Amino acid sequence: MINLSILNENRKLVNKWISDYFLKIDNQTQLYKAIKYGVSNGGKRLRPYFIVELSKILKIPKISYKQIALSVEFIHCYSLIHDDLPSMDNDDFRRGKVTVHKKFNESTAILAGNCLYNMAIEIILDSKTSKNNRIRLELLKMITHNSGSEGLMLGQYYDLFYENKNTGINNILNTYSLKTSKLFELSIAMPFVLQSRSNKEIKNAKLYGRNFGLIYQIADDFSDLDKEFNETGKIPGKDKEKGKNTIISKVGRKNALNLCYDLAKEATKDNKIFGNNDYKFRELIFDIVAKITY
Ligand code: IPE
Ligand code: IPE
Ligand code: MG
Ligand code: MG
Ligand code: MG
Repeated sequence: MINLSILNENRKLVNKWISDYFLKIDNQTQLYKAIKYGVSNGGKRLRPYFIVELSKILKIPKISYKQIALSVEFIHCYSLIHDDLPSMDNDDFRRGKVTVHKKFNESTAILAGNCLYNMAIEIILDSKTSKNNRIRLELLKMITHNSGSEGLMLGQYYDLFYENKNTGINNILNTYSLKTSKLFELSIAMPFVLQSRSNKEIKNAKLYGRNFGLIYQIADDFSDLDKEFNETGKIPGKDKEKGKNTIISKVGRKNALNLCYDLAKEATKDNKIFGNNDYKFRELIFDIVAKITY
C-alpha cells in the first residue's frame, strides 16, 4: 500500500507554496478572493505529487519543479471551478465546501477560472521554471495543448455532449482520456521535458499518465455511486441525476473494475517508466484501484 503520509506531506508542501504565492499579491477584490478560495479550499494535490516525486528522482531543482507544480494545480482548480458551474455539472459543493459560484456568484467564478489559467501560464513563463527558453516554450506548448481544445476542454465538452445520450465505450474512454488524463499526462511528462529526456521516456511517462487518469476517473465515478459526502466532499449520486455516461453505467461495476486492473498492469509493465523508482508509482496506481469498493 502507498504510504499515505507521503501524500499528506506533499499536500502540506504544496499548500505552503500556494499560500506564499497569494501572500505576495495585494488585491482585495471579490475576484481575487474567489481565485484564492477556488485554490485554497482543500484538494488532495495529487497532480503536484507526481511532479514533486518525479522531479526529485530526476534531480530537478526545487525552484523549478515548484513552478510546474503550481502551474498544473492552478489549471486543475480552474477546471473544477468551471466544472461545477450551473451550465456544466451544476454542483453546490466541492472539497466539502460550497462551490465558488455559490460563495461568490457565477460571473466571478467564470472570471476566477480564467484568471487561474492565465496565472498558470505566467508561472511557466517565469525564468525560475527554466533558464532555457526552448524548454520553457516546450512546457508552454504541452500545457496549452493538454488543457485546450484538443485536451481537457474537449473532454469537458464531450462529457456534457453525451449527457442523456446513448454512446459507446470508446467514446466514454476517449472523454476520460481528455477530461481527466490530460492533466496527469502533463504532470508526469513535464519533469522529463524539463530535463530534456528522450522521446521514448516522455512517451512512457504519458502512457502512465493516460492510464492513471482513466483509472482515477473510474474510481471517481465509483465514489459518486458509493461514497458519502463526508468522504468525498461532493454530493453523491450526481452522475445518474445528470444522465452522465460513465464506464460503470456502460459495462457494469465488475467490468469497470477489471478494466482498471488491466490499465494499471499496462501502465506498469516491465518497470520501464521510472527506472529503479518504478515501485512507488506501481504502488500508487494499484492502490487507487484497490480503494474502489466494488
Ligand atoms: C477531481 O479531481 C476531478 C477528477 C478528475 C475526478 P481530484 O480528485 O484530484 O480533486 P481534488 O483536487 O483532490 O479536490
Ligand atoms: C472530472 O470529472 C472533472 C474535470 C476534469 C474538471 P467530474 O465532473 O466527474 O469531476 P467531479 O466529480 O465533479 O470532481
Ligand atoms: Mg464534469
Ligand atoms: Mg463534476
Ligand atoms: Mg465525478
